[in-house]
Amino acid sequence: MASGPPSGAKKEQWGTRVGLVLAVAGNAVGLGNFLRFPAQAAQNGGGAFLVPYLISFVLMGLPILWVEWAIGRHGGQYGHHSSPGMFARLGRSRWLKYVGVFGLFTNLTVAAYYCYIESWTLAYVWHSLRGTFAATPPTTFFPEYLGTTNADIAAIPYEAAGFFLATLTLNVWLLSRGLVRGVELAAKIGMPLLLGFGAVLAIKGLFLGPGDPGVVESPLVGLNFVWEPQASGLFNPSTWLAAAGQVFFTLSVGMGSIHCYAAYLREKDDIALNATTAGTVNEFVEVILGGSILIPIATAYLGLAAVQAATAGGSGFGLGFLTLPTLFNQWGWFGPVAGAMWFGLLFFAGITSSLAMGQPVLAFLQDEFKVARERAALGFGLATLLLGGLVVVLYPGGTFDEFDFWTGTFSLIVFALAEVLIFGWIFGIDRGWAELNKGADLRLPSFYKYVIKYVTPLFILVVLLGAIVKPSV
Ligand code: PHE
Repeated sequence: MASGPPSGAKKEQWGTRVGLVLAVAGNAVGLGNFLRFPAQAAQNGGGAFLVPYLISFVLMGLPILWVEWAIGRHGGQYGHHSSPGMFARLGRSRWLKYVGVFGLFTNLTVAAYYCYIESWTLAYVWHSLRGTFAATPPTTFFPEYLGTTNADIAAIPYEAAGFFLATLTLNVWLLSRGLVRGVELAAKIGMPLLLGFGAVLAIKGLFLGPGDPGVVESPLVGLNFVWEPQASGLFNPSTWLAAAGQVFFTLSVGMGSIHCYAAYLREKDDIALNATTAGTVNEFVEVILGGSILIPIATAYLGLAAVQAATAGGSGFGLGFLTLPTLFNQWGWFGPVAGAMWFGLLFFAGITSSLAMGQPVLAFLQDEFKVARERAALGFGLATLLLGGLVVVLYPGGTFDEFDFWTGTFSLIVFALAEVLIFGWIFGIDRGWAELNKGADLRLPSFYKYVIKYVTPLFILVVLLGAIVKPSV
């Protein structure tokens, strides 16, 4: 493991501030914002979810985001680009690095099903272009992808396997070419397109009326369901657990991805403003766009009760695949183009996130075991293929909400708790706060020093204990 003072050697580093913020936003904005958030909100009572969600963002999400950036930049100065090495620098105990290893493992298990869903978006680009949806209603299309039937493994089409392989190959190829510059460039072009088209979709969806073919209920019922704040969620531990988990998932914290991106900063590069901006952009996209596209449109075509039933039945990720093609089908010649664009942009959002899951694994193999980048990328691809294959077999028909709960919610929360304790109590909050504010272009409110030391860990602990006493799965 590298040690000693920060080396002056030339390192891979971010180009510009805009590029960095966009790349981190590309990391954070992903299938979580457009597919997972609406499903979690629907499963947890819509407006009842929103209140714990926003509180979790302010008291857990943001502080942990800053902590991860600080740990990442700190570790990066000592040549570490992945969590285990970084954690080893925060204190004396040799156990610290295993906390980092746990984060990396979570990263891999999430990548396994994340890349599979990412591959569905690619399949849907292909089928939009071919006009498949015009001839086949999406509700009966590829039930094996979407979990509308309990198809067994033998029924999984070769095609789905093909798209999964293609997606993994693309990930491995891009990772093996080196991340930093490519992601910056892609995010500069792709993010504005995604946000623009997302806004168009949200508006088009909200104007669906009873006169439009196939519409059974007003999309405004769905909008109201997501947005009408309800205090009832405050008293439900499983809603808190889901809300905190979703905040971590969407901010990409709790598994070492932000550590890795922050490691490419210079010692005095700002953290406070960058992290806050990227995190806020992500939340804006999630709550405003993610909350206004899928549920309203799904409500229009399926009815609110069916949306809730569909997400509760373990096919949360499938909802967008079921309903959006129906909307595009109404758009005549533009339908296939719109479908290809939307699913293409989702694929883009997904791949900038899965690359961000791969990068820390790569960095770990490169830094600690001196594995060459290409081989490390291949290692990540193979591990994802094996684990992903296992998930597909264990959860036929894409019904892996339970797996998603343990890896994408529970593990993130456990990791975040360990991390904030290590930062505030072992590394020490005074050192930590100084580290966080080094070179800062934004003055963080000083009470957050105490939030990080006391409030955030206590809060996570209460959420965790509450959910253990009253489990949600
Ligand atoms: N934040 C991403 C999303 O919302 C998921 C992600 C998690 C990406 C961890 C990278 C690392 O889709």
